[in-house]
Amino acid sequence: MSSHISTKAAIAGITIEPCIFNAAGPLCVTKEELEAIGSSHSGAIMTKSCTFEPRPGNPEPRYYEDALGSINSMGLPNLGYMKYAEFSSEMKKYRKPYIVSVAGLSLQDNIEIVKYLGQFKDIDAIELNLSCPNVIGKPQVAYDFDASDEMLREVLKVNKHVLGVKLSPYFDFAHFQQMAGVLKKHKLAFVSCVNSLGEGLFIDADAEQVAIKPKGGFGGIGGDYIKPTALANVRKFYELLDRKVPIVGVGGIKSGRDAFEFILAGATAVQIGTEFMRSGTACFARVDAELKALMKEKGYSTLDDFRGKLKVL
Ligand code: SIN
Repeated sequence: MSSHISTKAAIAGITIEPCIFNAAGPLCVTKEELEAIGSSHSGAIMTKSCTFEPRPGNPEPRYYEDALGSINSMGLPNLGYMKYAEFSSEMKKYRKPYIVSVAGLSLQDNIEIVKYLGQFKDIDAIELNLSCPNVIGKPQVAYDFDASDEMLREVLKVNKHVLGVKLSPYFDFAHFQQMAGVLKKHKLAFVSCVNSLGEGLFIDADAEQVAIKPKGGFGGIGGDYIKPTALANVRKFYELLDRKVPIVGVGGIKSGRDAFEFILAGATAVQIGTEFMRSGTACFARVDAELKALMKEKGYSTLDDFRGKLKVL
């Protein structure tokens, strides 16, 4: 691929090259999985969303995919926040940003976790996940605008890192506006749109049963099913945050053309979830090569050449 085509992105002074990395997320729980991402073409290493205590997650089967996407109710299986802090020095050798995803189960947990992570200089950024649909008995914080406001205010008071937030998908212009109003009150380095779309249900008509075990089969939907919703969220937040806050697009990206669409809608970088689960770390190099090929065809040499420049009719 021509070397003059760059898919480099920057968020709060952190270089992400290529602008494509893993979502939090499949295959990012263990040190071995994080090392595999480090050794791959992924532009960053994102950890599984961590909680205060280690968690085994929900009962299996808890992930299922069909040709158009996935359903999951993983329930935040993770090693606990201290492990992801401990891994940070070893991740440095991969010379790419190490981002810790944080999904404490309460305001107090998030404050404690973020405060603790502040001591680790090899952590490049934190993605605060307010949008996991799979913790039994816990509604998504991102659907409660007052709770989101309080969470961001309190967490940012103790935070020492570049910090962004991962949002749930929204479906109504009034809700986009309410959430953008909350986000504008805080100094966020980036906004990731979107987490999986909950609560969905996959049904196997032959077996006359659900596809996953937790919560009677309900879970978060990813993949092709959610790409238009993810694109709409990227576009709306890009506009409502006055094109000033970097948006990280996630939801149904499996090709360079998909990545192109997200950047055209306004994304600074993109994350891959379902496709990473399906095809492993090879997806990062393939999507980057496809994106570069499309940019070349269109005569673009950097992401700035087309970011946000979506035409309307
Ligand atoms: C999960 O572990 O349940 C998925 C993570 C998320 O949706 O934030």
